[in-house]
Amino acid sequence: MPRRSRTLLPCAVAYLLLAAPHAPAQEPGKPVSFINDVAPILKENCFACHDPKKKSGKYDMTTAEKILEGGTNGEPIVPGKPESSDFHDLIVTSDVRRMPPRDKGEAVPKEKAAVIARWIKEGAKIDAGLDPKADLVKELRVRWKPPVPPKAYTFPVIVNAVAFTPDGKHLVVGGHHELTVWAVETGKLVKRVYTRAERAYGLAFLPDGKLAVAGGRPGQEGDVRVYDLTAKGKTEDGVEILDGVNDKKVLVKHLFDVEDSVLCLAVSPDGKTLAAGGCDRAVRVFDLSGGLDQAKLAQTVENHADWVLGCALTADGKYLVTAGRDKTAKVWDLKVKESVVTFPEHQNIVYAVAVKADGSAGFSVGADKTLRTWKPNGEGKQVRAVGGHNDEVFKIVAAPGGAVLATSSADKTVRLWDLEKLAAKQTLSGLTDYVYAVAFSADGSLVAGGSYDGTVGVWKVADGKPVKVWNATPGMVTKEPEPKKDEPKKEEPKKKEPRKK
Ligand code: HEC
Repeated sequence: MPRRSRTLLPCAVAYLLLAAPHAPAQEPGKPVSFINDVAPILKENCFACHDPKKKSGKYDMTTAEKILEGGTNGEPIVPGKPESSDFHDLIVTSDVRRMPPRDKGEAVPKEKAAVIARWIKEGAKIDAGLDPKADLVKELRVRWKPPVPPKAYTFPVIVNAVAFTPDGKHLVVGGHHELTVWAVETGKLVKRVYTRAERAYGLAFLPDGKLAVAGGRPGQEGDVRVYDLTAKGKTEDGVEILDGVNDKKVLVKHLFDVEDSVLCLAVSPDGKTLAAGGCDRAVRVFDLSGGLDQAKLAQTVENHADWVLGCALTADGKYLVTAGRDKTAKVWDLKVKESVVTFPEHQNIVYAVAVKADGSAGFSVGADKTLRTWKPNGEGKQVRAVGGHNDEVFKIVAAPGGAVLATSSADKTVRLWDLEKLAAKQTLSGLTDYVYAVAFSADGSLVAGGSYDGTVGVWKVADGKPVKVWNATPGMVTKEPEPKKDEPKKEEPKKKEPRKK
């Protein structure tokens, strides 16, 4: 079974590991298209050094015009003559001076170099309709079309986010280029909502019942979009299919796009404030007080030195609490627009934060396996730190009633805590892999967890009894036991985990 990348932190490394885009198979008879065939190769092999920032050799390759213009040594492409073009020669040369430089990266694969040779031979033409000044990274992103999810998967889908529907009867699960909706009582798939985003990292229902989703495609793009899951779709084998990519009745709002994944999402209980942050280190805060149609970007908070991994809002929408890969949790005053607290005690990656509704206590969890509570106002002093999980803790959420916290961990469990005493209440087991997602139902009576191997579970908060545990991968009904030889996988994320870029 092809294990997909285990990266917990999805951006840059996942990009290197699995998202390296395959150049589209170039058909032999057809002329080479610059944007469809050549640009993806350049993006993958050259842009890292030849972008507007680095401009190695004073050569920026991110627009068609600049590619033809060249760098220090002038025009690198002689249309019709790949053999006299530096641009091609430097890719295929056996000389010491090669592109990418020998000590910096692998040679461009032969088939891809051949595509570039053909493009030059055919006159190094730019596609009709493509602006020579257009930013190719953006152009490729806009033109990219998400794949249609398969009817049945051959690999388990990683679950990064879960949310109960407002009535508590269904669980929405972030899948692979889709959201899947399952009946809580039976674990039966009832709906699939196709999405542009490869992964959903944050899900939150707005008071009007629409679902806000933060997500993205690792290393490529990120977005927050809002869906109406009650829209009508077509039914296939008893499962309703909604097209959240193209159908405007399903995809009702597109709040923003960025160049890498959006990893966290929070909505204030009154639905007036929405905050979302991620790999660009920023949290965008939207004012939804005039409704979704009038959504306004109120501010962009740049308060962390690294990816923002978690966010939460106080009930009054005045304070934004965030978790960073920079090993801190922080509080931002949205009115005054300034940072009020930095909580440094984790001394390791902080994955998630929660805040008591009235703003009197902040909670954070992270790679130090510890749940910490601290004063979100004043000096950010630690009040308590408690262990319990045997491995890194990825998520923390406060129940809507405000008395219970839930955490999820690499130790394959979800834990419930008394919010006031920070005392462990229940350990919920049954999941078979890292638990990346956790959520309460709107009435606080149910809690759900979702994990790396696609398993999700729903438990009763009152007594910790399981309601249902199933695999939320469409078509994967049988749950295979984890093979023993897969054991060392636990080490993998540590190795693959990107340190600073
Ligand atoms: C790891 C960084 C790196 C990557 C990746 C890279 N280059 Fe370069 N490139 C350089 C540096 C540094 C120079 C300047 C030194 C030189 O010319 O040898 C350069 C110079 C060039 C030049 C000469 C520019 C001039 O006018 O002097 C061309 C042409 C070029 N690169 C093409 C490419 C192509 C095509 C790719 C992708 C297949 C690529 N490079 C990938 C670092 C890189």
